[in-house]
Amino acid sequence: MKSKARPAPGRLLYAQSGGVTSVINASAAGVIQNARAHGIKVYAARNGILGALREELIDTSKETTAAIEALRHTPGGAFGSCRYKLKSLDANRAEYERLIDVLRAHDIRWFLYNGGNDSADTALKISQLGKAMDYDIRCIGVPKTVDNDLAVTDCCPGFGSVAKYTAVSTLEASLDVASMADTSTKVFILEVMGRHAGWIAAASGLAGEGADAPPHIILFPERVFDEAAFIAKVKATVERVGWCTVVASEGIRNAEGQFLAEAGTRDSFGHAQLGGVAPVLAALVKDKLGYKYHWALPDYLQRSARHLASKADAEQAYAVGKAAVDYALAGMNAVMPVIVRTSDAPYRWKIEPAALDKIANREKKMPASFLTRDGFGITAAARRYLSPLIQGEAPLPYGRDGLPKYVQLKNVAVTKRLPAFEQ
Ligand code: F6P
Repeated sequence: MKSKARPAPGRLLYAQSGGVTSVINASAAGVIQNARAHGIKVYAARNGILGALREELIDTSKETTAAIEALRHTPGGAFGSCRYKLKSLDANRAEYERLIDVLRAHDIRWFLYNGGNDSADTALKISQLGKAMDYDIRCIGVPKTVDNDLAVTDCCPGFGSVAKYTAVSTLEASLDVASMADTSTKVFILEVMGRHAGWIAAASGLAGEGADAPPHIILFPERVFDEAAFIAKVKATVERVGWCTVVASEGIRNAEGQFLAEAGTRDSFGHAQLGGVAPVLAALVKDKLGYKYHWALPDYLQRSARHLASKADAEQAYAVGKAAVDYALAGMNAVMPVIVRTSDAPYRWKIEPAALDKIANREKKMPASFLTRDGFGITAAARRYLSPLIQGEAPLPYGRDGLPKYVQLKNVAVTKRLPAFEQ
């Protein structure tokens, strides 16, 4: 992982990849502020690796200190993101040669890729370019994903905030349905993200504890959806409590392995576009039990809700960006700064480097010990893991208009030096 010689002074390229989060820009701030402190100029690629291929680079040195600091509380991806999978070196050598040409043309010696497990794969492939194509480039992955499914790291920047949003929303909507249940709505269904792993759905369990507290039913992608057991539990809960809150992961599947809610489109990684399981469940409740329902699909609201970010998450997002620069400047290659938990209560954590090949293309699902025996709830062990991640608030500056003061960067383009690339 560590090499002896430090590369010659050059520039650092940072790019954002995959689904963005409410704190990914805090990682960008960690990268840019630390690099500036070391006198290193940071370029950002517009729309992730595509910006590198198209030579669409942004000169972050044109941004003020205040603008970079404001990234710490601005959601979305300030430089644009992408879902784009690089093929293997053998399958598309031209693409890799183009990347090297762009890096060389702009004297880029460090590449930091901020993303999830697919992006860790991209980062790993680029880290292997140096050797294969005789260009001295150090490549570091920066973790991010609301799905919390990266291997090795204890948690993923972006998750703590979506977990807090989900737990708070579950609690608030449950107070609403409880008020209405006598004469109106009896079932509320919240659909949350997480294609293959139920971490976000699990976080809703922090809203309450005990059989009668919401959420009464959590549906995880780790468990096959059992329609009869689901309907029976909704009925029993409404009869006992008077109302029922259900939280469903977008990724739940039936016994045939089909998603309950596949929209029919796929991204370039081959992932199915999901969204719409809540209305499917609501229709089922109405058909089988006749209860009045409401359902909600927060979709992008959950991963952009910076107003409800977790303090721990915002701090970790910044810390991994900062550490990535330290690792790059120390001559490391093909690593990612990961979060290591050293204590649950009080919650303590530190950052360590981990090899990218232990992270790329792997998915960390919820362990069986985190799910209750009936598969509809979370255990005490899950609470111990999840609870620290939603602790604390990360307050925002608000303007006179009542809106958060989010920053819009200038994103000044670097002059192109190469002919256009045909993809
Ligand atoms: O990046 C993870 C994620 O937020 C998933 O939970 C969700 O299914 C997906 O992204 C949505 O991706 P997109 O924004 O590309 O449609």
